[in-house]
Amino acid sequence: MAEITLQVNGAQRSVSADTRTSLLDLLREHLDLTGTKKGCDHGQCGACTVLIDGRRANSCLALAVAWDGAEITTVEGLGDGAEPHPLQTAFMDFDAFQCGYCTPGQLCSAAGMLAEGGPSAVTADLTGDPPLTAEEIRERMNGNLCRCGAYVNIVAAIEDVSR
Ligand code: FES
Ligand code: FES
Repeated sequence: MAEITLQVNGAQRSVSADTRTSLLDLLREHLDLTGTKKGCDHGQCGACTVLIDGRRANSCLALAVAWDGAEITTVEGLGDGAEPHPLQTAFMDFDAFQCGYCTPGQLCSAAGMLAEGGPSAVTADLTGDPPLTAEEIRERMNGNLCRCGAYVNIVAAIEDVSR
């Protein structure tokens, strides 16, 4: 067992957990933050994506104890409490989901991806700030699977926010 302290969605949370506990299980089972979803539990689907110190990561592959002291943002912490995050609004406006199981991961991944900036992995002439092309968004979001196939609307929603 280990005492693990994380800054989760702006609040300090301390829990005692087995050192083998993944960050995903810590969030869902110890902190009751069930917005983060468990899909494959093997780093293949992206359903469990959260932001760790501002960078997107698969929480099923992250050992919670290894991130002691880190700042974690889950889908519950994306908006400011009163207002949803612009990506959440865009996902609703563009009907970017069907069952919604992948959506928390898509949202956290998109939020982290838009904050990454940097040179394009796909389009050589993209410099500085977005807007990102749909092709670039698809490339950058390819770790987040949607079994309902809502990709067209997911990309459209992210593209709208990136403008
Ligand atoms: S549940 Fe983590 S990648 Fe699928
Ligand atoms: S909306 Fe169902 S898996 Fe993406």
